[in-house]
Amino acid sequence: MQQSTEQIKEAAQYIREQIQSNPEIGLIMGSGLGVLGDYIQQSVTIPYEDIPHFPLSTVEGHAGELIIGELSGKQVVLMRGRFHMYEGYEPALTAFPVRVMKQLGVQSLVVTNAAGGINLAFASGNLMLISDHLNMTGKNPLIGANDNDLGPRFPDMSEAYSERLRAIAHEVAKEQSITLQEGVYAGLLGPSYETPAEIRMLRILGADAVGMSTVAEVIAARHSQMEVVGISCISNMAAGILKQPLSHAEVMDTTEKVKLQFLSLITALVGRI
Ligand code: 6GU
Repeated sequence: MQQSTEQIKEAAQYIREQIQSNPEIGLIMGSGLGVLGDYIQQSVTIPYEDIPHFPLSTVEGHAGELIIGELSGKQVVLMRGRFHMYEGYEPALTAFPVRVMKQLGVQSLVVTNAAGGINLAFASGNLMLISDHLNMTGKNPLIGANDNDLGPRFPDMSEAYSERLRAIAHEVAKEQSITLQEGVYAGLLGPSYETPAEIRMLRILGADAVGMSTVAEVIAARHSQMEVVGISCISNMAAGILKQPLSHAEVMDTTEKVKLQFLSLITALVGRI
């Protein structure tokens, strides 16, 4: 079911009543990366369960709260814990928080995730700036009646990931001596990881990394003309590349190792948006 404009407004109104600031940048943090919320100053934390119509997050390693305040001199709203379609959420529900952010006045969205590396030049622990995505979920958060006040029926996706923000991300990475790969993110439904044959297929199709989030959020963000920048943490190589099996433990492990680098990149990037 599509969330109604009424529900978006009620959720945003509730959040506005808890805060003094006007967030201009939204951040959606992937597994293990929500710790960035701890660096937000003058922060107000709002559990998802307190926000009208907000879905609740069910995965381990994903808390469920919004943290609102100041980061690098910018007013931000950070999602610690996101909604994945593999949890059973309708595609539109995964987009709901993005719409609420937009209603709060957010103009730019920073999305992060953990992803499997498909590009053989990548290594686990690399960071990858998302240049574009392949929506391989077979779903779309905009299915259903379109609210023309939110955005057009057939939104353009030619520049889903802002060239301007990508250039800034590369500048910041260079200044911080962080290796920043760049590539195409394939978003799949999950929750099973891919087979080696599926990974070979995705590579032929032009994917450099694969994950189970982000695409629905970015579609919703572009629908409402938000500027988007996305960074993946290559937490492991995808199936069939290395000998070892894949595990969520490895994903969390690698994320933990590159976390500080990742967070310093995002923090500086936010300052320049
Ligand atoms: Cl290999 N696949 C998917 N779908 N998601 C991931 C991953 C792989 N590694 C981290 N997240």
